[in-house]
Amino acid sequence: MTHEELVARLEEAGQQQTLAFWDDLNAGQRSRLSAQLEAIDFELLNQLVQGEDAAPDWAALAAKAQPPRAIRLDSTDNEFSPMEAVARGEQALREGQLGLILVAGGQGTRLGFDHPKGMFPLGPVSQRTLFQILIERLRAVAKRYGVSIPMYLMTSPATHDETVSYLEKHDRFGLNKDELQIFCQGVMPAVDAGTGKLLLAERDSLALSPDGHGGTLAAFVKEGCMADAQQRNIEHLFYCHIDNPLAQICDPQMIGYHLLSGSEMTSQVVKKRAADEKVGNVVTIDGVTQIIEYSDLPPEFGAKTQSDGSLKLWAGSIGVHTFRRSFLERAAERKNSLPFHRALKAVPHIATDGSEVKPTSPNAIKFERFIFDLLPLAKNAIVIEVDAADAFAPVKNADGEPTDSPTTAKAAMVARDARLLREAGAKIAEGVAVEASPLWAFDSAEAASKCPDHEITEAKYFS
Ligand code: UTP
Repeated sequence: MTHEELVARLEEAGQQQTLAFWDDLNAGQRSRLSAQLEAIDFELLNQLVQGEDAAPDWAALAAKAQPPRAIRLDSTDNEFSPMEAVARGEQALREGQLGLILVAGGQGTRLGFDHPKGMFPLGPVSQRTLFQILIERLRAVAKRYGVSIPMYLMTSPATHDETVSYLEKHDRFGLNKDELQIFCQGVMPAVDAGTGKLLLAERDSLALSPDGHGGTLAAFVKEGCMADAQQRNIEHLFYCHIDNPLAQICDPQMIGYHLLSGSEMTSQVVKKRAADEKVGNVVTIDGVTQIIEYSDLPPEFGAKTQSDGSLKLWAGSIGVHTFRRSFLERAAERKNSLPFHRALKAVPHIATDGSEVKPTSPNAIKFERFIFDLLPLAKNAIVIEVDAADAFAPVKNADGEPTDSPTTAKAAMVARDARLLREAGAKIAEGVAVEASPLWAFDSAEAASKCPDHEITEAKYFS
């Protein structure tokens, strides 16, 4: 595109302010800004700013919402038994049908850590980083089933370079070169909340941010991961987030339920502890499984109970899914199969007069896609209830916050590993921190032959 063509496009879109400093830019800066502007779909942006994809009537939807098709932890009428599921999942694993998508492109603003979140040292005794913790889990599953499980790791421009060099420096924590593919997600520009104008982060750069974990779908195809998965005959992709150290990566039981139920997208959920808990609510509306975000669920519907007093909309998403690859392919072929959600955020920028603006309250709209919006497109979707103590300890907030902080996640890891060790026969003195790598013991049965005979009286990492 020539510069004249770009200027004409910007004028048509009413976004000429992005060139406010053009005359002062050198050739490199000009090409950086031009490339960012050329990549923008102004028609789409305009629709998003105008709100033509306006949010649905959540109250009307919530009124119709029913609990989703589910495998419950304490139910006697589940469609399949845990044993059947484990056997089916183990078979698929042994046949090499699984791949892992780990998403780590978020900016981790709430945690306030200066590096990609995956580099956060979380191991309560070992100081292993989130990357190491999750990669070891993947390697342990692969080892147990005698297969190679490729990992597709999603970064964003905010996390890419540092992630690549960190993992190389640490020899990918034991993954072979051909078992790791790092792919970078796309970005979306932020606009001024009042005027819809694009904002400049620098004189030669727009204010851009990753396009949400829903950006996984487009990037997975664009960056060649889908083709790679096809070529390896990977039929199912297990998906999870970098910030959950308890993620049960490629859990045979979940995979088994996914396969037995003929589901195209299977999600792990936890039973909500409170009506207003800050998790996405998985529900069924007119036979279609979908998520209503906590912020969209009117409190009167969230508080509804069943005859036994338990919450009617009980299923809280934890961002762990298993996808049939053919489903992802179909979804990716559909144009705009994932809607954009708006979030009001404080976005620092350069005003057209050259002054730096550092807002203390939200001034801009960011646009993000969410992966869970694939649920309504999936055939036979099902959710699997898990115990948060075994499967979910997110690292979202900085230490000092009461929930979802490194401290709470470390405590959850210690509690889980202490349970595993005690089940294996170990004696652990009260209050002593223990941590076990899944490469040391995949489960309590394997740990049984390795546990020390004496009581564990000081912090210990089993590796
Ligand atoms: P969150 O939505 O919790 O965002 O991401 P975050 O970036 O970790 O933290 P905040 O909101 O800025 O404090 C959940 C998961 O989705 C990934 C994150 O890396 C995390 O694993 N994610 C999020 C992406 O990969 N890309 C995105 O654009 C957003």
